[in-house]
Order: sequence, then structure tokens, then C-alpha cells
Amino acid sequence: MNRFIDLLRQTTSVWILVSVMASCTGDAPPNPCTGVQLDIIYSASPAIGTGNNGSIAVFNPAGDSVSYKLDNGAFQSSGLFSNLSPGKYVITVRNNRGCLDTAQVTILNYGPKFAQVKQIVSGYCGPCHLNAGNSGNFNFDADASIVAGWQRIKVRCVDGTPSFMPQGGQLTTIDKQRITDWVNAGHRISD
Ligand code: HEC
Repeated sequence: MNRFIDLLRQTTSVWILVSVMASCTGDAPPNPCTGVQLDIIYSASPAIGTGNNGSIAVFNPAGDSVSYKLDNGAFQSSGLFSNLSPGKYVITVRNNRGCLDTAQVTILNYGPKFAQVKQIVSGYCGPCHLNAGNSGNFNFDADASIVAGWQRIKVRCVDGTPSFMPQGGQLTTIDKQRITDWVNAGHRISD
């Protein structure tokens, strides 16, 4: 008997035991998780500068019996993970039946100046240039398109030539300075 328990302590032996038990009980009941997709909806905020301050917030699925984990961490009831360094993560969500689903999430790294420009664009350039808006043939949904458009963004938002953007208004002096600072620093995502 002791030898049997010793065997059990080895993971591989446990798997053998489990498969033997399954074959003894006849047809296994249908797995309640087969075909279940939990439709994981989340947002990921980049880490800014050298601070490991990225975060992931899972919005769906949600509810008392849903739990979440990050990589190989423990399951927790909150869908919020903070203080993350840039990189790739796997979020696992478990529903009330114990069904699991995963999502791959990337935490980007923004330089502090780009982070401010990104915030300005998100706040003042929609709907005309966001969510597929493409006024003047400029869409800023992708970070790369903000980087590619740095010169026109500066000319239109800071210099106001031939007219100021956002259309029908102007950014504050502080926000114009933020764009200028990013441009002067090298207008990269890392600046
Ligand atoms: C209410 C709609 C609207 C908003 C908001 C808006 N734009 Fe525009 N934008 C336009 C339209 C329309 C054009 C094309 C006409 C023109 O160039 O004036 C344009 C053109 C542009 C162009 C390309 C034209 C060129 O000169 O190269 C850039 C770059 C631009 N906008 C940047 C921005 C930025 C950056 C913001 C936010 C800070 C912004 N816009 C906000 C409507 C908008």
C-alpha cells in the first residue's frame, strides 16, 4: 500500500490512475465545457516609461462565480491586474462550471511623451480620425499611424497651417507643447 501511495505522489502515476478510473465508469458524462467560449473582453493599458505600470482589466465574463488568473498565478475574483511590465501574458478565465478559456494579452511599452500624445489623439481626434474615421485620409487607430503622421499632426495641431486641428477648435497650449516635445524628442513610440 505504501508503495502505491508513493506511486501516486508522482504526477505521471496520477494521470494513469485517472485514466483507469474513467475507463471503469463506462461512458463519461458529456463535458459541460465542450464548445464553451467565454468571450473574454478586456482592455490592456501600456506600461509607460520604465515604470512597470501596465494593466489588464477583464470586463467579460463577469459575476460572483467567475475568477481570473494571470499566467501561472492563482485564480482571483477580480479581473484587474496591475503593475505589469511590458510583455505577453495569458489570462485564464474560469466560469461557474469550472470551464476555462484563455486570452493572450500584450502589454506595450510607451515612452512618456508618446503616451501623452496618444491621450490627446484619443481625446480630441475622434470620430473624424478614430474608429475607422479617415478624414483627410488620416486614421489614428494604430499607434504606428500616429508615428507615421507626426509631421502633419504637428503642422495641423501646433502650427495651425492652413487651419487648426481638431477641426473647429484648437488644443490647449499645454497639449500643443506636449506634441512639440514628442516631435523634438524623436517622435517615436519609445519617446
Ligand atoms: C470634427 C472632425 C475632426 C476632428 C475632431 C479632427 N479632425 Fe483632423 N481632419 C478633419 C477633416 C475634415 C480633415 C480634412 C480637411 C483638412 O485637411 O482640413 C482633417 C485632416 C487632418 C489631417 C490631414 C491634413 C493635412 O494637412 O495633412 C491631419 C494630420 C489631422 N486632421 C489631424 C488631426 C488631429 C491630430 C486631430 C486631433 C487632435 C484632428 N485632426 C481632429 C476633421 C477632424
